Formats: sequence, structure tokens, C-alpha cells
Amino acid sequence: MVDQSGLRDMPIAPKRTIFSKAGSFALHASIILDFVMGAHGRAYGIGLRDRAGLVKCFHRNVKAIPSGTTALSHLAMAREILSIPPHVHGVVVECGTWKGASTASLSLVCHKVGRRLLVCDSFKGLPDEGLQLYVAPHSRIYGYLKGGMFEGSLAEVQANINALGQLEVCDFVPGFFAESLKVLTQPIVFAFLDVDLPSSLRDCLRVIWPLLAHHGTIYVDDIGDMNIVRVFFDDVWWQQQLGCPAPGLVGSGCGLPISAIASNLGYIRKLPPFQAHGWRRESDLYYPDGQ
Ligand SMILES: C[S@@+](CC[C@H](N)C(=O)[O-])C[C@H]1O[C@@H](n2cnc3c(N)ncnc32)[C@H](O)[C@@H]1O
Repeated sequence: MVDQSGLRDMPIAPKRTIFSKAGSFALHASIILDFVMGAHGRAYGIGLRDRAGLVKCFHRNVKAIPSGTTALSHLAMAREILSIPPHVHGVVVECGTWKGASTASLSLVCHKVGRRLLVCDSFKGLPDEGLQLYVAPHSRIYGYLKGGMFEGSLAEVQANINALGQLEVCDFVPGFFAESLKVLTQPIVFAFLDVDLPSSLRDCLRVIWPLLAHHGTIYVDDIGDMNIVRVFFDDVWWQQQLGCPAPGLVGSGCGLPISAIASNLGYIRKLPPFQAHGWRRESDLYYPDGQ
């Protein structure tokens, strides 16, 4: 039998040096620069100053409001929403708001693009499912979730959005998702699901996926936890509940590249069956047409 006691004591990650910290800073700066100097939102008349203003607000929001998300994850979602062609009809949905940090940022983006933001939460914290273990193997973070965690009352969330976002674009959908989301009927172009529990995620997907526009996206938080990731690869559940194969999840396990180590953000896009048109070819792959 192999003695693995040495492996067990392996350091979680090399100690961060001043150079690795400088590297992280450079990565963050380049992501921000790419967003500000890019063309995201041009179709809505949004320019460099607007994008720079948004980035400033995202940083302010995660400092001012207790938050489980980062300014760069707000930026990644803003980039996506600003890239939706204006003629595509539909609302933006957020499930899981806590005190309203990501909501405030999303409301600012929705205000710029003229879309409604549906803010869905129990406003009483997580449902009670007993202690739930949260394990993120890539970053080797673990902890427990319990009923009532991440509670933010409707009044508290509204006050935060009023102070730091755009309250007038928000419609609130209070209640536990299994019941509350039944009122959603309008087409959805973008959704952000930050709900911690696989059961809550399933409640959201059951309603949101059928309403999601073709090419629409669902961004998902907590994708370091394999229990969250597994939901997106569960073919039996997807076929039974939604009549399609499981879509998988971009960023599974270590997240989108908005951090040097790991981010918590991933996404799925509702794509029609694959057609090569509009996709790039790679020189080391095989193509039957010989080109
Ligand atoms: C981690 S917090 C969201 C963090 C927030 N997006 C941020 O930027 O800080 C998770 C939220 O999901 C909500 N939630 C989770 N499961 C729910 C369910 N089944 N029904 C309603 N709300 C739920 C909780 O009330 C909580 O506000």
C-alpha cells in the first residue's frame, strides 16, 4: 500500500510572494482595461466613460455592502449583458441577492441597457436543509451552509440598491424559489444564479431555462463546489425536467479566468445544436472537408 501521509501534508498553494501579488494585480488591471477600452455596449450608445464608471461602482458596491461576490465577477456579467443585441427582447433575472451587492451592480447595468431586473430571493436567507457541506477542491476551501444564512430583508436590500444602484429598474420576487418563481413568464436574456444549494439551483433552472432566449446565458456562482457543478452534468435530471441533455458548465471547478488562482463564477449558454458556422478552427484538429 502506498504511504500517502506526506501527500496529505502537501501545502494547499505555494506561499504568495510579492511577485505573485504583483501578477494578480496586473491580471486584474488587464481585465479592467480590456473592459473599459473595449466595445462592450456600443450598440446601446455606451462609451468608455460609462464603462469606467461602472467598474468604479462595482468596486464601491462590494466594499459598501456585505457580499459573496467580487467586483470582477460583476464586471464579467456586465460584459455579457452589454453584448446582448438591443433588439433581443427579455429581462435580466438574479436569484440570490443577500444584502444586494451584486443586485446593485446588475441594476446599474440594466439601467444602461434599458432592461428590467427581476430580483428573486426569500429575503430570509437559505432554506433549512440541515447542515450542508461546501467543498471546493481546487482552492481547498470548505465550510458549512445552514438555514437562514445570508439573510437580507427586502427593506434592507431595497435601501442598498436605492443608495448604490438603480432601484427603478428592479422588480422584486420574494419567497422560496420552488413557489415564488412561478410568476416568471417573460423571456429572459441573462440570469445570475447565486443560491449556494444544489436544490435551490434546480428550482431556478426548472423555471429559468425554458424562458431563456436562444444564445442567452446563465451565470452561476459557487462553481468551485462540485455539488453545484454536478447539477449541470446530470443528464438524467435535465432530460426528465427540461427535456434536453445537460449543458455542462463553463468554468467548472476553478471558475472563469478573472483571478490568478480561482474564481467562483461560471456560465452556460443556451445554444442551438452545433453548427460550424461562426466557430473557429484549430490547426491541430481534424476536419473531414480537408480544409
Ligand atoms: C450567497 S447569497 C447571494 C450573494 C449575493 N449575490 C452577493 O453578491 O452578495 C445566497 C442567496 O440565495 C438565497 N436563496 C438560496 N436558496 C434560496 C431559495 N430556495 N429560495 C429563495 N432564496 C434562496 C438566500 O436567501 C441568499 O440571499
